Amino acid sequence: MIMASNHRLIVIPPPLQGHMTPMLQLATILYSKGFSITVVHTKFNSPDPTNHPDFTFVPFHDGLPNSYTVSSKNFIHISSHLNTNCVTPLKEVLVRIIKEEKISCVIYDGLMHFIDSVARELNLPTILFRTTCATNYLSYHWLSMLQRNGYLPLQDFSMEMVEGLEPLRFKDLPIFNLGESATDIMVKQVTESFSVKPSLGVIFNTIEFLESSSLQKLRKLYKVGVFSIGPLHMCMASSETQEKNNNCSTSLMKEDYSCITWLNEQEPCSVLYVSLGSIASWEEKELIEVAYGLTNSEQRFLWVIRPETIESIPEEVKSATRKKGRIVTWAPQREVLAHRAVGGFWSHCGWNSTLESMCFGVPMMCQPCFGDQRVNARLVSNVWKVGIECSEMRIKRDEVEGAVRRMMVSEEGKLMREKAVLMKDKIKISVRDNDALNGIVHAIVMSSSNSSA
Ligand code: UDX
Repeated sequence: MIMASNHRLIVIPPPLQGHMTPMLQLATILYSKGFSITVVHTKFNSPDPTNHPDFTFVPFHDGLPNSYTVSSKNFIHISSHLNTNCVTPLKEVLVRIIKEEKISCVIYDGLMHFIDSVARELNLPTILFRTTCATNYLSYHWLSMLQRNGYLPLQDFSMEMVEGLEPLRFKDLPIFNLGESATDIMVKQVTESFSVKPSLGVIFNTIEFLESSSLQKLRKLYKVGVFSIGPLHMCMASSETQEKNNNCSTSLMKEDYSCITWLNEQEPCSVLYVSLGSIASWEEKELIEVAYGLTNSEQRFLWVIRPETIESIPEEVKSATRKKGRIVTWAPQREVLAHRAVGGFWSHCGWNSTLESMCFGVPMMCQPCFGDQRVNARLVSNVWKVGIECSEMRIKRDEVEGAVRRMMVSEEGKLMREKAVLMKDKIKISVRDNDALNGIVHAIVMSSSNSSA
């Protein structure tokens, strides 16, 4: 086994929960292989250094107001802002660091693709980290070709299959229904991020057997090694620093552990966990419909409503939900999904939530909101068959009630739970047999010794 003591890595996570978490998990895994880790991060939404006492944390100026709340309306603009405005502040920080110590590699997220050219200018080797699934990137590649040929914005959101991307239908493409400019910016960004040339490779937080065909196609597109090393939270749990890492929260918000005490009192597989992740949200009138739909289903539920939206729920609605459910503003999600009381996950299908749900054998009610979530939802429901497609469900109390019952008490839901447990076992085996981590360590160490020679 290769160990990498005396090598320092710089990891640069974007200030978004769904990207911060996998980057810190990757850093923890690489730390367990002997690397020293410096996390270079924005001041906005910065990670908590006390959760990672073995890492060094260095902020750079980002120009974003601290009071900003990330939402589906602004997160694309946040990433676009960072790519445009952070070249100089990041360069200054990196120059300071390399004066003091040799850096073996910079690992950056594709959302902040500007980092590639900054690192190149400073002669630093780079690895590009993709935090969504491989199939999502293939579909972006397809979208960027359409854009080049003048076919965007797409008018066709039909059930027709997209040739070359089957089984994705036009309606599953990672479009942002946030106005034309959002999709344009995103496709432009992804096109730009396809043009970056990481010197040492590309890492995907995915599982080879789930996405082998997409990964093969991506391996032809990239000229460097493509490593699939997911699911990172599981690799982290099996890494040598396991005991320490179990306490390493990557959360940007405080998790409410009281829901675990509540789950302890519930029957096995009796609770539906409901969360739309850190960006998507329901509007006020939808929240009320969801609340009544959940309550009328007579099923137990644990529902995450983030602090910025919880204020909009009338007190009478909250009290109706208390009979069967529990609301928290942020949950320790992996502990929740691992709990024996949880029998289903009504999810927006963010990639981290999708991986977490599959690793803990919890089937999903798939209701994607935007972007890659549509791709993930299609894979979960149609290819891996561990979730029910709810993308056409309207947020009306009767429809919600029906879908919740379908997930929690129907024969179909029961079968789905059995399939989800089989999937969990397969994933465990694939993590045990995955050698990609050694490939990554080898690439970094070899590049570093070649440059010293
Ligand atoms: C975003 C995108 O929306 C997602 O589609 C993309 O794949 C990554 O970036 P987000 O919407 O937050 O992420 O969803 P997701 O990828 O599921 O990440 C959310 C993370 O927050 C998960 O790791 C989940 O465990 C965590 N979480 C969520 C909590 O810890 N507590 C909660 O209450 C809710």
